[in-house]
Order: sequence, then C-alpha cells, then structure tokens
Amino acid sequence: MRSKGNLSLLIFMLLFILRCINHSLAYFLTNCTMIIQETPSNEVALDCADRQLVAVPDDLIKDAVSVKLGMNRIPKINKGDFCDMGRLSYLLLYGNEITVVDDGSFTDLVLLKTLDISTNKLTNVTCNMFQGLSNLTMLDLSQNKIRFIHNAAFRFLISLQTLSLRYNKLQQICDIAPIRDLPQIQEVFLSCNLFSSFETKDLPQNFSSNLNTLEISGKIRFSISTPAFPYIKTLVFFACGYHNNLQWDIPDKALLQNITDLYLDQQEISVEAIQEILQSLDSLTHFNLSFFREWGEKGLLSEMCKKATLRSLNLFQRDLNSFTSQLASCSQLTKLKLEDTYLKDLPKGSILPMRKLRFLSVSRNELNRVPFDVKHLSSLETLRLRNNLISELSCEDFMNNTNLSELYLNANQISKVGRCVFESLTNLKRLDLSDNMLTTVTDAFNNALQKLEVLNLRKNFIKCIRNDYFRHLKSLKRLNIESYLFEKAESKAFNGLKNLEELTSSLPLEGFGEITHLQLMENLTIILPSNRRFTVSESTNDQGIFFKSMKSLTVTCKSGLYYFNMEKVQSMNQLEIFKTENVLFYWQDKFTFERNTRLKTLTLTKSDLSKIRSELLQPIPHLQILDLSQSKIKSLDFLMRTNLTELRYLILADNEIDVINELVFSSLPSLTYLDLSNNPLLCECSNSGFIQWVKNNKQTMVVNTHQYKCSFPVEKQGTKLLDFDIQPCLDDGSFFFFISSTCLVVLTLLTSFIYHFLKWQLVYTFHLFLAFLYDSRKGKKQDPHQFDAFVSYNVHDEDWVYREMLPVLEGEQGWRLCLHHRDFQPGKPIIENITDAIYGSRKTICVISRHYLQSEWCSREIQIARWGRCCLAYHVQII
Ligand SMILES: *[C@@H]1O[C@H](CO)[C@@H](O)[C@H](O)[C@H]1NC(C)=O
Ligand SMILES: *[C@@H]1O[C@H](CO)[C@@H](O)[C@H](O)[C@H]1NC(C)=O
Ligand SMILES: *[C@@H]1O[C@H](CO)[C@@H](O)[C@H](O)[C@H]1NC(C)=O
Ligand SMILES: *[C@@H]1O[C@H](CO)[C@@H](O)[C@H](O)[C@H]1NC(C)=O
Ligand SMILES: *[C@@H]1O[C@H](CO)[C@@H](O)[C@H](O)[C@H]1NC(C)=O
Ligand SMILES: *[C@@H]1O[C@H](CO)[C@@H](O)[C@H](O)[C@H]1NC(C)=O
Ligand SMILES: *[C@@H]1O[C@H](CO)[C@@H](O)[C@H](O)[C@H]1NC(C)=O
Ligand SMILES: *[C@@H]1O[C@H](CO)[C@@H](O)[C@H](O)[C@H]1NC(C)=O
Ligand SMILES: *[C@@H]1O[C@H](CO)[C@@H](O)[C@H](O)[C@H]1NC(C)=O
Ligand SMILES: *[C@@H]1O[C@H](CO)[C@@H](O)[C@H](O)[C@H]1NC(C)=O
Repeated sequence: MRSKGNLSLLIFMLLFILRCINHSLAYFLTNCTMIIQETPSNEVALDCADRQLVAVPDDLIKDAVSVKLGMNRIPKINKGDFCDMGRLSYLLLYGNEITVVDDGSFTDLVLLKTLDISTNKLTNVTCNMFQGLSNLTMLDLSQNKIRFIHNAAFRFLISLQTLSLRYNKLQQICDIAPIRDLPQIQEVFLSCNLFSSFETKDLPQNFSSNLNTLEISGKIRFSISTPAFPYIKTLVFFACGYHNNLQWDIPDKALLQNITDLYLDQQEISVEAIQEILQSLDSLTHFNLSFFREWGEKGLLSEMCKKATLRSLNLFQRDLNSFTSQLASCSQLTKLKLEDTYLKDLPKGSILPMRKLRFLSVSRNELNRVPFDVKHLSSLETLRLRNNLISELSCEDFMNNTNLSELYLNANQISKVGRCVFESLTNLKRLDLSDNMLTTVTDAFNNALQKLEVLNLRKNFIKCIRNDYFRHLKSLKRLNIESYLFEKAESKAFNGLKNLEELTSSLPLEGFGEITHLQLMENLTIILPSNRRFTVSESTNDQGIFFKSMKSLTVTCKSGLYYFNMEKVQSMNQLEIFKTENVLFYWQDKFTFERNTRLKTLTLTKSDLSKIRSELLQPIPHLQILDLSQSKIKSLDFLMRTNLTELRYLILADNEIDVINELVFSSLPSLTYLDLSNNPLLCECSNSGFIQWVKNNKQTMVVNTHQYKCSFPVEKQGTKLLDFDIQPCLDDGSFFFFISSTCLVVLTLLTSFIYHFLKWQLVYTFHLFLAFLYDSRKGKKQDPHQFDAFVSYNVHDEDWVYREMLPVLEGEQGWRLCLHHRDFQPGKPIIENITDAIYGSRKTICVISRHYLQSEWCSREIQIARWGRCCLAYHVQII
C-alpha cells in the first residue's frame, strides 16, 4: 500500500519536473513581451497584460523577476503555472476572472515580494493557497468576492507587511482572525466589506502587535476595548459611497494612546461624536477629513484646533468658504492642506496666527490672488498654489517668506512677473511657473534667487529668451523652457547658468548662443513644436567644447520633420543616451558615432534611415539599446559588419524589412531582445533561415513573433510567419544538392573506370550505336542499293581481293562490289564512308584473315555490318 503510494507520488513528481523542464526550453514567448529596462540588467521582466489570455502562458521565462498578467480573462491559477520561477519577485494578476487558486500554485515563488490578485472573482481564501510565499511583503486581494478566509491561510506569509482586503464580502471581525499569523504585518485595509461592527473583544489579546495602520469603513460600530493592536498609529475610516456612519466606542482611551493619525472620509456623524473621538485620542497629530457644512456651522473647526497635539490638518472635498475664520485657532499647526475646498479667498487674518506653519497647500481652489497672510508666515518652507485663478503677483506677496524653499504657482493665469516679486526668496530652491500666460520673464529672476536649483517655465507664451533672463541663477541645475511659441534665444541667453545640468527647451541645437558656460550640462531635451524656421544666433560656437559633459540628448519634433546636423553631437564624447523622434539627418555629413564611445542607448525613431550604412554603428563598443522603429529601414544588412558586442535590445518595429538574413545576428553576440513587429515579412524560402533561427536560438527573444503576419506572397497574406512551412525549402535545397553531387561523383568514377578498362568496348559501342542510328534512319528511307556487296578486307589482303576475288565475283558473276580503295568518296570521314558503303550494299563480304582480325577498322566494319546484315560469305585465308 505504502510503496504504491510512494511510487505514484514519485511518478507525479517526475511528471511535474518534466513539465517544468519541458517548458523552460522554449525561448520565444507566445503571449508575452519582455520589458526593456533602460539600464540593462540580467533581470527579465515580462509583460503579458491585456491580451485576452484565458490561461497563464506555459512558456513564461523561468528566471523572470517580474510578470504582469493583469487585465486578461484567466479563470483559474493551476498548480504548476509558476513552477520553477524561483526568482520572481513581482506578480500582477489583477483584473482577471480568477475564481480558484490551486493549493500550492505559488510554492516555488520563494522570493516573491508583491502579489496582486485584486479585481478577480475569488470567494474563498483556501488553506494552502499561499504556500511558499515566505518573502511576500505585499498582498492585494481587494475587489474580489471573498467571504471566507481559511483559519490557517496566512500562516506561510511570515514576511507580509501590507494586506488589502478592500471591497470584498467579509462580514464579521472573526473572518480576519487569520491575520494573527502575520508576524510582520503593518498595514491592513478592510474598507468596503460588509462589516457591521469592528470590536476588538472578538479578537484575541495581542492580536497583532506590529499593526500600525488599520483602514475600515461603512456603517460600523467601532470598539476598541482590548489591546488587540497595541502599536496602532493610523486609523482610516474610508468612504465607500454614502451613509458611512461611524459609532465610536472606546471605554478606555489609554488603549488609543498611540494613535497619531486619523482619517475620516464622508462620515455622517454628529459634531458631538467627532468631539468624543477627538477627546479619546490624546496623541492625535495628523487629522485628515472631509469637512461637512453642519460641522462648520456648529463651530467644530475652531473646537478641533484647540487640540494641542494637532500639528497637521488636511481638509478636503467640502466647501470651506464660510468657515475660514475658524482656522485662526489652529496656531500650533505646522502643516495645513486645504485642497479641493472651493476657496475663493483665504481672508486676511485667517491663517495669520499659524506662526509655525511650514507647509501650506491651497491648490485646486478658486483663488485669484496669493492669500494675504502668506507674506507674514515667515516660517513657510513649502507653498503650493497650483490650479487656481491667480493672474497677478504683487511685490508684497512673498515679502517675508525668506525661509521658503519650494513655491508652486503652476496652472494659474499669471501673465507677468515683476522684478520685486521674488526679491525676498533668498532660500528658494524650486520654483514652478509652468502652465501660465507669461510672455516674458525680464527681471523676474533677480539676484535674490541665488539658491534656486529648479525652475519650470514650461507651457507659457515666451517667444524669445533674452540675455538678461537667467543671468543671476548661478545655482540653477534644472530648467524647463519648453514652449510652443518659441522662436529664438539671444546669444548670451545661457551665460550665467554655470551649474545647469538638465535643460528642456524648444530651441534647436544651433539656436544656442554662447554655451561655453554650460560646462556641467548633462541632459538636454529638445522638444520642437514643428518644423518651423528658427532664428539662429549670430555668434559662432566653439565646436570643440560644445556641451562636453553631455550624457543624454533627446531631440523630438512634435509635428513634421526636423533636419538635424550631427556635427555637434560628435563632440559630445561623454554621451550615453541619444534619442530622436521625427528627425532627419544629413547623411552626406558621413556622420558616425566614432567619438561617442560611451553611447549606451541610441534611439532614432520616425526618421528616414532607408540609406543607413553599417559605418554608422561600427565603432560603438558599449551600445546596449538600439531603437530604430518607424524609420523606413528596408534591410538588416547594415548590421552585418558591425561590432556591437554589448547590444542587448534591438527594436526595429514598423519598418519595411521583408527578408532577414539570420547571419546578421551572429555579429550581435549579446542580443537578448529583438522586436520586428509590423514589418512586411515575406513567407518565402528566403526567410526560412530566419524562421528557423527564431525557433531554435536560445538567447534572443523575438518579441511577439507569434503575431508576425506574412505580407507576401499574396496567397499567404494574413497567415502567420511562424506557420510558414520551411521544410520544403530545406528539402529542396539539400536533397537536390545531395543527389546531384552523388551523381557527379558516381559518373566521374564510372567514366574513369570505363576509360581504363573498357576503352575499346566503348569505342565499338559508340560505333554500334551510330550504326544503329544510321540503320534506322537509312532503313526507313529504303534507298535502292547501289552495290550488291560491300567487301570488307584488310590492306594486306588487297592483293588477294583484286587478283582472285574481284575477277570471279564481278567478272564471272556480274556483281557490283564496293571496295573502299575504289569506291569510297574522298573528303568524307572514313567511318561515314564505311557505314554508307555497308548500307549502300545489299550484302557485306568480310574477307577474314589474321590481319583483318588485328585491324581496328576491319573489326569495326564487321561490327557495323553485323548490326545490319550478316556476312554473305567469308573466306579464311591464313597468311
Ligand atoms: C496564447 O494565448 C492564446 C489565446 O489565449 C492561447 O490559445 C495559447 O495557448 C497561448 N499560448 C501559450 C503558449 O500560452
Ligand atoms: C468556501 O468555504 C466555505 C466554508 O468552508 C465552503 O462551504 C464552500 O464550499 C467553499 N467554497 C469553495 C468554492 O471552495
Ligand atoms: C527571502 O529571500 C532571501 C533572499 O533574498 C532568502 O535568503 C531568505 O531565506 C528568504 N526568506 C524567507 C523567509 O524565505
Ligand atoms: C502579549 O504579549 C506579551 C509579550 O509579547 C506577553 O507578555 C503577554 O503575556 C501577551 N498577552 C497575552 C494575553 O497573550
Ligand atoms: C504605545 O506604544 C508604546 C511603545 O511605543 C507601548 O509601550 C505602549 O504599550 C503602547 N500603548 C498602548 C496603549 O498600546
Ligand atoms: C493625511 O494628510 C497628510 C497630509 O496632510 C498625508 O500625508 C497623509 O497621507 C493623509 N493620510 C491619509 C490616510 O490619507
Ligand atoms: C517681516 O519680518 C520682519 C522681521 O522679521 C518684521 O519686522 C516685519 O514686520 C515683517 N513684515 C511682514 C509684512 O510681516
Ligand atoms: C528659518 O529657517 C531657519 C533655519 O532652518 C530657522 O532657524 C529659522 O527659525 C526659520 N525662521 C522662521 C521664521 O521660522
Ligand atoms: C540625466 O538623465 C539620466 C537618465 O535619464 C538620469 O539618470 C540622470 O540623473 C540625469 N542627470 C541629471 C543631472 O539630471
Ligand atoms: C570588436 O569589439 C571587441 C570588444 O569591444 C574587440 O575586442 C574586437 O577587436 C572588435 N573587433 C573588430 C573586428 O573590430
């Protein structure tokens, strides 16, 4: 019995192992693509999301670290779906139709850190579902239909820190009892279930001693009467639709001593109830809530602010316009967020007492000026006023904000910034003025902004950069001046920017004036709005030191095409990344990347590279990513003689390649990723080598190969490239060559053999054959015979023939004889004469003697004659 069981177990395991081994052999993916990593590593990440899959693909790469399978139609996870994937750390399965996960499906995933099975149809979390996931830190089971969690289901998850069970059908607090098995758990999200109460008395003591964040929601009775979560810090009462009615029951407020953060979203509770909550939380520091009008009318805001421990207040999603005066009591706050609160103004004095305020955000409101009090809040470090209706900035607005380090004024309607506006902001590091209506910034960035490091002026209406715009910004590291109206920069526009490292602009390379100061520049992004003409600065650049520390250059033309001169790029000998889009090159410059020896990523997309030559790529020793998509390339031959030993990713999608010579890939020894999507590939024998390479090579993944369609010949259009039967191509060639070379060899052997041993037989055969031909030809014509007999004899016998035979046969018998000495026609080949004579005679007389038998011609005559007729008579005379 026992051994039988063991045997079947063994067989089962063998089958299991075989299944794994079997599938790790394939190295092209049917339903997934590899994700390109900008900094190539050995870590494989697979994207199989959103492809209508109904099962986990069985050709997943076993050493992948990340697999995205979201948004498919997978109904079930089977044991073995992820077998042997011991390096996987990130697995997304959200948005499928999973109802069942087989026990032990994840057993091999010992390094898995994140598992997302949200938005599926699970109803039960079974006992052994998570077996093996000892390194899992984050588990998302939200938006399923979970009603039941097996009591021991979580016992394997010894590293789990975050668990989401939002939007399920859990009903009772004891349903979450398995959480006690999670020794490292810190955050649990339980909102939007069917709980009607959450009472710790239903949970064991010391239930979860590491838990610090608990999220819950609904019409719920919340009672903490035992130290079930001694270290809980954050309580979140989340809104799931309306009618969230929290009943707070805390008999001993010491149990909530450690709670510092409270989040209340749309809780329809009375002012008294909120006051009770506030009173029971002695350590409350951060309070986030959507603030109801009724509460404001009863003066709750000023009540709240009396809480001495409160430091950070976040009011959102409710109209606060009538209650701003109540904020004045919150003098102890260091952080105040009033976002999405429909504020038209923050009246004078409302936040003035907040002398310790360091962070203020009034973003996404309807303010039309900077709140008056801001200028008095000299402790402010971060001020966010984005997405308002501010149109003007005055000299007083930031008068005393000397400690301000970040100022966000983006997405307003500011059209002008005067000289004095930022004059006091001597500690400002980051300033965002993007998405406004500025046409000029003359004098705006004055001497005070000595510490400014990041300046964003994107999406304004600036046409020209004048020499005086940025000359004081000595510390500026990042500048964005992308603008649709950009036309020109004056020649000294960038002179002051000694520390600039990153620039995004709409200025073409030749539009930069003197740039000798931009010695630290590393990243330049040029976004050209169109192929419009640019006014090129008059001053000449010193080519030799042009952006010599540049590491990354990106040139994008939004519409149309931009002609790009590569000369300046050649001088960037630190360049690692070069990307262009909608850019054409002057090939006649014969440019190469010879001097850009550090180039790692080269992306030339939406260009015209139909004339690309191998010289372009030849000397780039460290190139790792080459993307030439949508660039009219017709053939891969340009890769043939390159020495791209480190190239890993090659992307050639959307080109015009029809035939691929697979030998190209032998010059790319590190290639692991090849994308040839949307090329008009031929399904002919010319591609059979490539197809075979795709199927057999073990190193390079050819992306989406299964979707490649034949574009030619016509009858194959629409069929899949990989379905093209290459067998006939292979057979045709090799079998033909085999047969023909075999024949040749045999023939040669035979010929030399025959020549050596059967030379004479061969000659006779030849003449016999001629005779036969002659016979059948002449025979048909039925010529009347010219002679009665042809006499075949040897010269030595001539005497006898003339003296003895002729007189008898011609004289006495009256025959007409044919003698070669007498009757042969001169000038005719002798062999023809013989045959003519024989066939012109009714019979042949052979005078057989020793000489005759030794003579070549005579025996030939016999042969020919024998073929035709028999000898009439023979006479043997031994001489
Ligand atoms: C790829 O997906 C299709 C459609 O879901 C399926 O029929 C096929 O078996 C899958 N291939 C692999 C290798 O999983
Ligand atoms: C889920 O668990 C419940 C309770 O143990 C059980 O009655 C039910 O059959 C289970 N359903 C499935 C689909 O396993
Ligand atoms: C987690 O992974 C590490 C390797 O990163 C391994 O050494 C460790 O044993 C794993 N921990 C558990 C609990 O499996
Ligand atoms: C709670 O845990 C502490 C230490 O971890 C232990 O001393 C105490 O006995 C536990 N209490 C209960 C009721 O298990
Ligand atoms: C609060 O946390 C401290 C440790 O930070 C702990 O000693 C104490 O027991 C906790 N208080 C409660 C009421 O759980
Ligand atoms: C509460 O607001 C603060 C900012 O004021 C934020 O950092 C925190 O994440 C918010 N808490 C929650 C639970 O949203
Ligand atoms: C600015 O600060 C100075 C001293 O810190 C103070 O004298 C002055 O009144 C303040 N001005 C405003 C407008 O708050
Ligand atoms: C401004 O910042 C400095 C350094 O952090 C600090 O000493 C000073 O108190 C701050 N000023 C105000 C008004 O908060
Ligand atoms: C330049 O770009 C690269 C790649 O995007 C980035 O890693 C690097 O941090 C950037 N350098 C600067 C100075 O911003
Ligand atoms: C190709 O590159 C390798 C290393 O980058 C170098 O050793 C080799 O000499 C090069 N071969 C040719 C033909 O340039």
